[in-house]
Parts: sequence; structure tokens; C-alpha cells
Amino acid sequence: MSNDRLFEAYRETHPKSASFHEQAKQYFAGDGATAHTRMIKPYGPFITHALGSKKWDVDGNEYVDYTMGHGALLLGHSHPAVVSAIQEQAAKGLHYGDNHELEIRWAELIAGMVPAAERIEFFSCGQEANLMAIRLSRAFTGRRKILRFVENFHGWADQFSLPPMTAGAVFDDVTMIPYDLEVAEKELAKNEYAILMTEGGGAHMAGQIPLDEAFVRALPGLTSKYGTIWHMDEVVTGFRDHPGGYQAMVGVKPDLASFGKIVTGGLAGGALAGRADILHAFSADMPDEKRVKHSGTWNANPLTCSAGVACLNIVKTGEPQKRANELADALKRKGRQMIKENGFNAWLYGRSIVHTYLGPVDFEPDDDISPPSQNTQNILGKTPAKERLCIHLLQQGISTLGARYFVLSAVHTEEDIDKTVNALEASLAAMREEGTL
Ligand SMILES: Cc1ncc(COP(=O)(O)O)c(C=O)c1O
Repeated sequence: MSNDRLFEAYRETHPKSASFHEQAKQYFAGDGATAHTRMIKPYGPFITHALGSKKWDVDGNEYVDYTMGHGALLLGHSHPAVVSAIQEQAAKGLHYGDNHELEIRWAELIAGMVPAAERIEFFSCGQEANLMAIRLSRAFTGRRKILRFVENFHGWADQFSLPPMTAGAVFDDVTMIPYDLEVAEKELAKNEYAILMTEGGGAHMAGQIPLDEAFVRALPGLTSKYGTIWHMDEVVTGFRDHPGGYQAMVGVKPDLASFGKIVTGGLAGGALAGRADILHAFSADMPDEKRVKHSGTWNANPLTCSAGVACLNIVKTGEPQKRANELADALKRKGRQMIKENGFNAWLYGRSIVHTYLGPVDFEPDDDISPPSQNTQNILGKTPAKERLCIHLLQQGISTLGARYFVLSAVHTEEDIDKTVNALEASLAAMREEGTL
């Protein structure tokens, strides 16, 4: 069968990864993968090292990398400024269990860029910041309920689970609504929601289903009218396309905004920024019934702070975002031209994260950030066609998270883009021939 031929060829070029995969399965019950997003059939490559826009696996295969640390590495792998900051800090101590200057410098950088950042709090990851956004909103409003948009991703915790329901997840107090102002107002008018959560850019990785900017601009007015805290999840969009995040790009000021990925320069961590009166719940002055306590061993640990400061000092110039967007534009432009010339059922769209669409092109969008169809099945998630494309691309030296998107950095090159477009052409042609596209 044609399907088997691809897997056979992949196994031939990835024998050591196959052996590691067998070992990994003995420990990691998720088919040997350590994150759901990294699970792929027959198995993913095992990486030995990475630098700039490239990474290499145990079998000596080289890849142009578009996973870019799940979107964290806007400056590419092992940027020299980030690496030397981490090395310097590691020699001075990993964890003081006390206050230190770097945490102030890190907060100062965020506050200097992000409109919402009157006060800041640090976490171990982006999801934790989102969980705290809920806690703070509940403490501030005295309400319990959470309003969320369909398909918006905020992490794996109970409140963030995406339908169909994840086994074991308790979904109480959560209402999901489409991107529809009338529906949003109808829900908000019930005066029972503590928080409205909105994923920056749109659902999944900065906008697989993009947000309409006029819609976003209407949300602060609506939420404040009905006493609900408006939270923007900027874990992916934080600093990616604009130094002030998606909120600055659109010109809004959420009550709370969470960050992860780029904010830490590539180490584990997250941040929540927001209104001083809401974050005042952390203060020792607050009466017990209004006070929120935030513990956390890794909060603002010196190593993560050092990487965050080094990264944001570069990010604040706006140069990395400009370069990543130029490269993304080249990938979209050349990629779409190739797609049209070949008549493939495919499309590329987005900002500095380029989303892959596989399926009939129902219409040609007149902007750069919209998919060419309303069919969310083909737009979202781990579809079999995208998983197959991922293996084809790996065989051509291109690494993606399930071929769902291409995360650009400031250090990808024009040469990388050309190689990627050629690899896409060969992969899509092979899939058409196999009957999988
Ligand atoms: C929009 C969004 N929010 C939250 C998260 C969770 O962040 P973390 O994995 O750092 O907990 C993610 C992770 O990809 C994300 O994409």
C-alpha cells in the first residue's frame, strides 16, 4: 500500500529514532510521546541538538525547524544573548529562594511593552497564569462562572478542556460561545460571569480561526458593562507579531493578560499582567475573604528571569517580529503560488505563525490571515491529512508540529523558505498521488 511505502521509507531514514521510540513507550504511556501535540504515527524523530533555524536528530537528519519550541523561540534556537545570560546566571545560583534584581528587570520590560501591564505576577507556565486569571477574577467579582470562546485553547486543565470532553475533566461553571457579539452580550447580561477568556489572534496558535479585530475591540466595552473581567490569553501572541502583543496590535487593553513561551526566552515560565486593582488581591493588606495567595517554587526563578530579560531586551526593538513576519510573508506568497500552479487542495495563511489548510479552497480570502473555507474540520486540529503531511515533510528535512503550522523565527532564512516550499510541493504531490490529499 502507498501509505506503507511512506512509513517504510521513514523507518529507513530514522532507525535510531525507532529504537528510542520503543524505549520511550516503556515509560511514556502516550505512545512514547511526552506531550499530546508531539504524538505522531509511526513516531517522531529524537533530536540531539538545535541551533538557529535548524535541528538534527539521532540518525543525522537535518531539519529546518518550524516547531520552534511550540512557539517559544522567536529568536531561534540557542540565541547567543539568551545562552550567555543563562550561563552567567547558572554560575551565580539557580534558585535563591528570595527576591533578586532580575525579577524586577523582567517585569519592567513587560510593563514597558504591554498595555495591560499595570502589575505583573510570574508563573511556571502559561496555563498557570490562565488559572490565576480565573482565580483573581472570581475574587474580584465574587462570581464563579467562566465564559470562553469555542475552540480557544488555554491549556489542559479542567476549565480549559475542549469539547468533546476530555475524560476526567470537570467542566463545571464553563460556558462556551462562538465568536458572535450578540451571543456574547446575551450571556454576559446574565451578570454571572467572573471572566471572559479570549485567545489572542484567534483559536489555536495565534489564529487558525482568526479573530475579527472589530469584534475584539467591542469586547472590553461589553465586559465592563456587565461587570465581567476581560482576559486575553497572549501565551502564543505575547510579543510574537508586535512588542506589545496582540492587544497592542489591535489597540485594546484587557483587564488581565497572560504570557508564556516568548516571555521566558525559551525556559519554562509564564506571566500574568493586568489591572493594579485586580492584582491587589495578592496584597497582605487584603481582608482574608478577598485575598489570593500565590505560592510556587519556580516563580521568577533567577534562571528563567535571566533568559526572559535577555530575550525581551531584543524583542522590545520590534526587529525580530519584523523579520519573522517578512519570512512568513515569503512562505505564504511563494507557497500559495506553488499551490495554485499545482492546483493542490491546500492554503497557507496567518501572521508569523503560518497555518496550513488542507482541503478544498472554497474561496480566496482577501486578507493574509483568513483560511479559505468555513469548514473547521479541515482548519483545526490533528487531521489525518496533516499528520501524513508531517511525515512527508520530515522526509524532506522540514520539522513541524503535525504540519498544522509553521512557526517562523527571526533567524529563518530565505534559503529555508525556498527549501520549505519545495518540500511542500513534493509532499503535496506525493499525497495527491497516494490519494491522501
Ligand atoms: C494560547 C495558549 N494558552 C495557554 C497555553 C498553555 O501554556 P503552557 O503550555 O505554557 O502551560 C498554550 C500552550 O500552547 C497556548 O497555546
